[in-house]
Amino acid sequence: MEPENRTIIVFYSKHHRNTQLLVDAIKKREPAVALMNISEISPYYLSDFDRIGIASGIYYSRFAKPLMKYLEVHLPENKKVFAMFTCGQMNSGYTKGVKALAEKRNCEYLGEYGCLGFDTFGPFKLMGGISKGHPSITEITGAVDFYRSLGK
Ligand SMILES: Cc1cc2nc3c(=O)[nH]c(=O)nc-3n(C[C@H](O)[C@H](O)[C@H](O)COP(=O)(O)O)c2cc1C
Repeated sequence: MEPENRTIIVFYSKHHRNTQLLVDAIKKREPAVALMNISEISPYYLSDFDRIGIASGIYYSRFAKPLMKYLEVHLPENKKVFAMFTCGQMNSGYTKGVKALAEKRNCEYLGEYGCLGFDTFGPFKLMGGISKGHPSITEITGAVDFYRSLGK
């Protein structure tokens, strides 16, 4: 039998903790996964894991800067990488920076999962926000299903 991948999800989730809903649901259903909130002190080293999830709210069409800065320094070479995000409006290209970094580190890019997240940034606040009620239960379940689809 193949040994299981040791997996960690490194995440940044500040605006409404939308992305955290996804990673917490994964942790609840797959307790072996480790979580690293890069806004908090963490006991983990990425080098101790085989598979690294990178999860973030989308800020100015990208993954959060503090997360990407951290990974620029700490993402080891030759790992398996996947990406997860929540955003106010779906668009292609949000994971471009993650993919580029994975390639630079010779990491295998396993895939990505993205869904809507409540957004009250800037002018959207005046309208009561957009993507209210997201991520929905279905979207959160979708994140768990995506994670499970990666295999053990
Ligand atoms: C400063 C700022 C910039 C944002 N820029 C975008 C954007 O470019 N595209 C988008 O779809 N959503 C954008 N959003 C909305 C967030 O991506 C969305 O609310 C996300 O779910 C936040 O995730 P979090 O709660 O995990 O931090 C922005 C939100 C903030 C606060």
